[in-house]
Amino acid sequence: MKAWQKQGIGLENLKLVDIGTPKPGPKQLLVRVKAVSLNFRDKAIIDGIYLPDMMSKKFVPVSDAAGVIEEIGSEVTRFQAGDRVISHLYTKWIEGAPNDNDAPYAIGGPNDGGLAEYMILEEDAAVFTPSNLTDEEASTLPIAALTAWFSLVEYGNLQADETVLIQGTGGVSIFGVQIAAALGARVIATTSSDAKGERVKALGASDIINYVTTPDWEKEVLKLTDGKGAQHILEVVGGDSINRSIDALTPQGYIYIIGFLKSMMAEVNLFSLLSKQAKVQGILVGHRQALEKMNLAFDEYKIKPVIDTVYPFEQAIEAYKHLSSGAFGKIVIRIS
Ligand SMILES: NC(=O)c1ccc[n+]([C@@H]2O[C@H](COP(=O)([O-])OP(=O)(O)OC[C@H]3O[C@@H](n4cnc5c(N)ncnc54)[C@H](OP(=O)(O)O)[C@@H]3O)[C@@H](O)[C@H]2O)c1
Repeated sequence: MKAWQKQGIGLENLKLVDIGTPKPGPKQLLVRVKAVSLNFRDKAIIDGIYLPDMMSKKFVPVSDAAGVIEEIGSEVTRFQAGDRVISHLYTKWIEGAPNDNDAPYAIGGPNDGGLAEYMILEEDAAVFTPSNLTDEEASTLPIAALTAWFSLVEYGNLQADETVLIQGTGGVSIFGVQIAAALGARVIATTSSDAKGERVKALGASDIINYVTTPDWEKEVLKLTDGKGAQHILEVVGGDSINRSIDALTPQGYIYIIGFLKSMMAEVNLFSLLSKQAKVQGILVGHRQALEKMNLAFDEYKIKPVIDTVYPFEQAIEAYKHLSSGAFGKIVIRIS
């Protein structure tokens, strides 16, 4: 089969190769991949900044995939050939509390992912594709959508009379806007682009703050909320952004620590944190059962993934470059 393979660090070491089609083990599915979507994780792995030791071997990258089951292993009971399925990143985290060490079992690094004509999914880590979505749309759900959902709904129990602050217009953030708006919450969003801001408004945000022209965006959040602040903040920027998020927060509100677009390290003002009695919640995507529950809710609320661009399989490198330059919502690669 044709597959892209990570053979080293940097996009110059992402190579289109011919490799053997994998065979499913007893509890595995062989999936003909239809589409994958890119996450910042995929880019960070190629750049060598995401668990570099664990990611140092050769593998097929990209975690989020949608496809059709070609063949099932001898002990598979949940699926049959012909079923449409999507991947689930942390293959051992099915429900409840996370395991001690989920990372070595993730797909798209260190285990083979979806940027190939075929991929293997563990039976336990596959989810039926929502019937109202195309494969391209469904490929965007496993990481970005679940991360926003797991934060706001599973941890945050978001209520309609609450305010959510969303940073930027990338994959996680746009799903965050859609989920919060669908649940009736007020959404304040930051972006570097006024034009993108108008598009976020069309998705349900009530207020937009340009974080380039208004670098002290936390003060603007307080102004917009009569000094009360936001109850929920999806912190995707990382680094010192957490201090602005603490200032923009309602007392006892949630800050979901999701991203590290700016930096993986932060010097936190502990006095501000304790004064706000903030709930700081680390997020690692979510478990499979939440992905299934989220898909049902998306169907009910008519949430459709926002796709910026779909690239053909051969142009995977261009797709990665587009992600680096900032996409509105998701970048998808069509495989077949
Ligand atoms: N913890 C987890 O489970 C988890 C899961 C998924 C993702 N993540 C992390 O979350 C982050 C976002 O991931 P993603 O896939 O959504 O990324 P993405 O699609 O690449 O999002 C990039 C967008 O972020 C915005 N941005 C960049 N710098 C910003 C800044 N200083 N202030 C505000 N917004 C800024 C920009 O929006 P504008 O163009 O509108 O300015 C940019 O377009 C990454 O660090 C990723 O690794 C973590």
